[in-house]
Amino acid sequence: MCGIVGYVGPKQATPILMEGLRRMEYRGYDSAGVAIINGDGVKVKKAAGKLSVLVEKLRTETPRGTVGIGHTRWATHGAPTTPNAHPHLDRSGKIAVIHNGIIENAPVIKKALQNRGHVFKSETDTEVLAHLIGAYYEGNLEQAVAAALWDVAGAYGIAVISADEPDVLVAARNGSPLLVGVGEGEYFVASDASAILEHTRSVVYLDDGEMVVLTRDGYRVRNLTETHVEKPVNQIEWDLATIERGGFAHFMLKEIFEQPESLHNTVRGHLLEEEGSARLRGLNLSDEDYKRINRVIITACGTSWHAGLIGEYIFEEMARVPCEVEYASEFRYRNPIVDENTLVIAVSQSGETADTLAAVREAKRRGARTIGLVNVVGSTIAREVQGGLYLRAGPEIGVASTKAFNSQVAALAMVALKMARLRSLSLLQGRQFIEALQALPAQIAKVLERAPEVEKLADRFAEAHNALYLGRGVNFPVALEGALKLKEISYIHAEGYPAAEMKHGPIALIDENMPVVFIAPRDAVYAKIVSNIEEVKARGGKVIAIVTEGDSEIGRLAEAVFTIPPTHDLLTPILASVPLQLFAYYVAVRRGCNVDQPRNLAKSVTVE
Ligand code: M6R
Repeated sequence: MCGIVGYVGPKQATPILMEGLRRMEYRGYDSAGVAIINGDGVKVKKAAGKLSVLVEKLRTETPRGTVGIGHTRWATHGAPTTPNAHPHLDRSGKIAVIHNGIIENAPVIKKALQNRGHVFKSETDTEVLAHLIGAYYEGNLEQAVAAALWDVAGAYGIAVISADEPDVLVAARNGSPLLVGVGEGEYFVASDASAILEHTRSVVYLDDGEMVVLTRDGYRVRNLTETHVEKPVNQIEWDLATIERGGFAHFMLKEIFEQPESLHNTVRGHLLEEEGSARLRGLNLSDEDYKRINRVIITACGTSWHAGLIGEYIFEEMARVPCEVEYASEFRYRNPIVDENTLVIAVSQSGETADTLAAVREAKRRGARTIGLVNVVGSTIAREVQGGLYLRAGPEIGVASTKAFNSQVAALAMVALKMARLRSLSLLQGRQFIEALQALPAQIAKVLERAPEVEKLADRFAEAHNALYLGRGVNFPVALEGALKLKEISYIHAEGYPAAEMKHGPIALIDENMPVVFIAPRDAVYAKIVSNIEEVKARGGKVIAIVTEGDSEIGRLAEAVFTIPPTHDLLTPILASVPLQLFAYYVAVRRGCNVDQPRNLAKSVTVE
């Protein structure tokens, strides 16, 4: 979603802001702009479309100045046009505002301002906020911003500058992530650490209701009631190289290939081989707590929700605890039954997904125990849950989640293992599960060595218009995830189903043009899935099957098979998802799609 970057320091701001915006391109956007305090005015340059359009505009005239703000906009209110792009100016033209989020009462405020003669040039809620700040301005930007924010309802991360105070940048957050970068004699604000990583790794994460005032001499955090807030300075562990493509054609491909390492990092230090259990101190759960839990609810969105569905199979099978998986967007608005013995697990790569965050808050409000399995360190969900486990998958830049998905499954598996060992799982079974988990990185590496096979397969199916993904048991969510990967980056319509459900409807779609991808490892439901493959074959469907090494049966039915190494039944999703990620990737590349930034999608969905 939208990206914010701001700078106060001794250097020229425009190149720093443009580089910051480039680093945030992966989040998804459809217009961009910068505002620089330039002489005694504010110079705004903005353009609809990709950053390259803005770069062209800046070529003819680059605003000079050492204080500025930059924004990439993902349209919510108003089309992705140049007038709607940020920054927006107030009525005087001296105050510039960039904003992530949605001001819900903007129409009411707009009407009131129009009655006072304000004229608006865009359809955005952000311009309304700019005018409101301008209306409150009496020579102190900090006070004007605070006054305006008392009036607004909704979510925001904002950064504001004023020509009348050329050395000041004011930023604030409520429901939309924002951090302060602390450099050597220079200060930044950003919605995403990657925007400022080139300049500093020292960051201060703002919380909801907080404002920060940056000057050339430092920064000061306060809340809306003017109370000073002391904040810790955190160090970001990763460096610039981890957010570069490093020789890969796309971030998505790089991230798929990083999985042996990312998965190893997720489980590193958590597995207790002797005890056949897991050490998960960050969850803040005692053995007694684990035993008291009588229900698990996993809440998430998109790919993380699919990881949650796999988690459900693992929790119920190993820990014998009832587990439900809920879309966070549904959980937050219904009347869920939870109590102090319910463990609510929020799963999120970004840790900023608005619905998942709201679900966490709702669960806490109702007295449930909340934990987070989150990738981005310092993110809002990670800070709001009562305990958590970082995935340690490293930054995921490609919009299509790949390595984070498998790390989420591994993290869920470790929580389930810990709970299971305090209940019904034997020492031996626990040790076997750990052995299987530890073998996964090398097994993924083996699968990745055969990426060229998947590439050839993609060549044959790149022109398909539809695809069906089918799996059973713990591999049914893999079918959902495989279908989501294909549709989001290649724009081929794809559906995932439990294989047996095919007969209840989707079978009508099968003809000789329909690729049907089966996830069919040698597990307890193998014979059943072979029957389903026969059914598709009988109707002329083109079967692609992911099977276990050594399988000789499915080959005679399928158009193509891809083998994965044998593992614990409950961990097959981790191996089976890798060729499906590669398949989606190569199909999308063949179709000329923008793999890392698919149309209309954002990496981090911070609005509802
Ligand atoms: O950051 P999160 O894991 O909370 O994000 C959830 C979904 O928005 C995300 O998984 C989305 O579905 C991806 N585009 C999937 O590739």
